[in-house]
Amino acid sequence: MPTPTATVLVDSRRTTGVVDDRVYGQFLENMGRAIYGGVFEPDSPLADAHGYRIDVLEAARELAPPVLRWPGGNFASGYHWRDGIGPAEDRPARFDLAWSMLETNRFGTEEFLAYARLLGAPAYLNLNASTGTIDEALEWLAYCNSDLPVPEVALRQAGPHPERHNVPIWGIGNENFGWWQHLHTSADSYAELTREWGKLLRWADNRISLVGVGADDPDWNWTVLNEAGVVLDWLSLHFYWNELSYEGALAGPMASEAEICDTWGLIGAAKRRRKLNHDLRICIDEWGVWPEPYLSMTNQPEVINRRLRAEVGPPVHTEPVPMIEYHFDLKDALAHATWLHVLWRHPDKVSLATQAQMVNVLGPILTTPDGVVRQTTFHPLAVARHFALGTGLDVGALTEAGIDATNAPGGSLSALDAAGTVDPDSGQVHLSLVNRLPDDELLVGLDGIAGQAQRITLWADDPAAANTPEAPDRVVPTEDQIDIDGPLVMPPHSHVTLVFLGSQ
Ligand code: AHR
Repeated sequence: MPTPTATVLVDSRRTTGVVDDRVYGQFLENMGRAIYGGVFEPDSPLADAHGYRIDVLEAARELAPPVLRWPGGNFASGYHWRDGIGPAEDRPARFDLAWSMLETNRFGTEEFLAYARLLGAPAYLNLNASTGTIDEALEWLAYCNSDLPVPEVALRQAGPHPERHNVPIWGIGNENFGWWQHLHTSADSYAELTREWGKLLRWADNRISLVGVGADDPDWNWTVLNEAGVVLDWLSLHFYWNELSYEGALAGPMASEAEICDTWGLIGAAKRRRKLNHDLRICIDEWGVWPEPYLSMTNQPEVINRRLRAEVGPPVHTEPVPMIEYHFDLKDALAHATWLHVLWRHPDKVSLATQAQMVNVLGPILTTPDGVVRQTTFHPLAVARHFALGTGLDVGALTEAGIDATNAPGGSLSALDAAGTVDPDSGQVHLSLVNRLPDDELLVGLDGIAGQAQRITLWADDPAAANTPEAPDRVVPTEDQIDIDGPLVMPPHSHVTLVFLGSQ
């Protein structure tokens, strides 16, 4: 059998638009070991004087998140911000129904915002639009962003950071469509609430940007866009890729790409219908491989009924315990690499995204008492944060080779997925290539680009290879320099980044 071939077409004048840096954001939620035992562990010898794990901070800095979302997620829908401010010893513990965990409130607004500052990341706070009230939301906004002589501002001024925090992005609710959410609701109710909350939040502070909840349901999205689009800057979508097979995991981001395009069509139609001319785009504030058929299982009616009647209650956690933690493998990293391709192909549509989640819970960073593991899924993003600069490139990938994948649009996946960016200042081109063939090398010809390039390869002999505390460096990028004057040989199931050293 001859080696399969592909051609990549690059013309650095053909671009997809300026990539908003905020698509490389991260998400932290008070659940499992994301906060306690993740970013914050005052009793650990690895923590600084404020309780932040230094090793986690260093790893997070390699991902350089330009925005950080908190406190959830599902947790946000039962969270009352006042529980988490003031002297730590005075803060009440609460039982969080979303994750069945005792929340000490030791990590609250100030601890989160100080952490975001350490990372240089503007904050994205998610409001409780379930059990919370608009007054509580407005007071949190005032606490963070106002200097008026009102009690919430006085609270902040008495605390560790008297100056305004100027939190730029606020989300109205989280997955309010789903039965697993505190007080989930209909599209009409959510849309009306969002329009009214959004109006008042903007009247209180017109410098903020607002995110509204979207769903994997065009009817929900259409209702929200029509009723509340006027107050929103983003409609959020969540993408978790749950298929366990090799081809199923790789197909996930492609299905999400199709959903982005569908949703973009709805946004355009709603804007035209409602005569909206402001910038309204898509935000993906939760994304990543979730390697368990959890979501589909929990959407079975009999499972839902049992949970609604609390016949099968979740276990009660009084201490931080691992929740949805996995050892991600190379295949998962390939899915994450192609997800970045989606972001570079659609910067006109998606201008904010936060990975779910940053540490332990589904995270690219995994902690042990002795240190951190950079999971396979850490590496494509870390490489991108170095080299993906400026504007998305409209890269063509031609090949007749491919693999079957039932959950991919069209039922199959091309052997090669390619995307890239060009830095408008230096002219430097960065190309990212994923060979999806599980067992075959791919001969890739580059058309329109040549010369000296730095090559970063993420590969292991087995697509199921993972980084674990015992073998933290099983799958790590290798670097070399090559002169591209002929076809490039890509190993099977690999991710190759090429950074061209001259301008193109
Ligand atoms: O990231 C874990 C959970 O997944 C989030 O809390 C929720 O928004 C989603 O269902």
